[in-house]
Amino acid sequence: MTRTPVAVLISGTGSNLAALLRAAQEPTCPYAVVGVIADREASGLEHARGAGIPIEVVRLADHADRAAWDRALTAAVTRLEPELVVLAGFMKLVGPPLLAAFGGRIINTHPALLPAFPGAHGVRDALAHGVKITGASVIEVDAGVDTGRILAQTAVDVLETDTEDTLHERIKAVEQPLLVDVVRRLAAAR
Ligand code: GAR
Repeated sequence: MTRTPVAVLISGTGSNLAALLRAAQEPTCPYAVVGVIADREASGLEHARGAGIPIEVVRLADHADRAAWDRALTAAVTRLEPELVVLAGFMKLVGPPLLAAFGGRIINTHPALLPAFPGAHGVRDALAHGVKITGASVIEVDAGVDTGRILAQTAVDVLETDTEDTLHERIKAVEQPLLVDVVRRLAAAR
């Protein structure tokens, strides 16, 4: 079986990456994670190291400006020759070069029910607004901030006692299988 090559981009603890890697160990999994790229020395890179998967860190601070970083990021992703690019807690907007190279093949996971609460603080913003239901969304990435086509969503109840951390943990618990399911589905269709 030929597996669809997937590149994963992260900035954080990489629990979504870990879920993708776990599922990829199953013999019938239709995708393979061919590389992990981070914009910082993210703790989640340990999951890739543990699985013997190539890693690259492309730091904004190591580049002359944002445009140069965008080009370097695109070059790093391109070297992996992925068919699908998964933003799994990647906390930077991807720029025009990556969209030009992989447009329609980049997906992002977000800890809120888009189009509500886009951006970097989806959990905090939902809690501050006082919503009773929030959740996780997996979307196609376009040039906007979390504006792309919605591919899948799962709802999570907000509890009276929730803090940003407790709510985010419950969201992550549903977000991981949701993301794995979408990546499986897209990979199988290719
Ligand atoms: C995830 O909940 C993801 O939805 C969120 O960062 C977390 C990363 O967790 N992404 C965003 O907020 C993007 N706007 P992880 O590093 O444990 O996978």
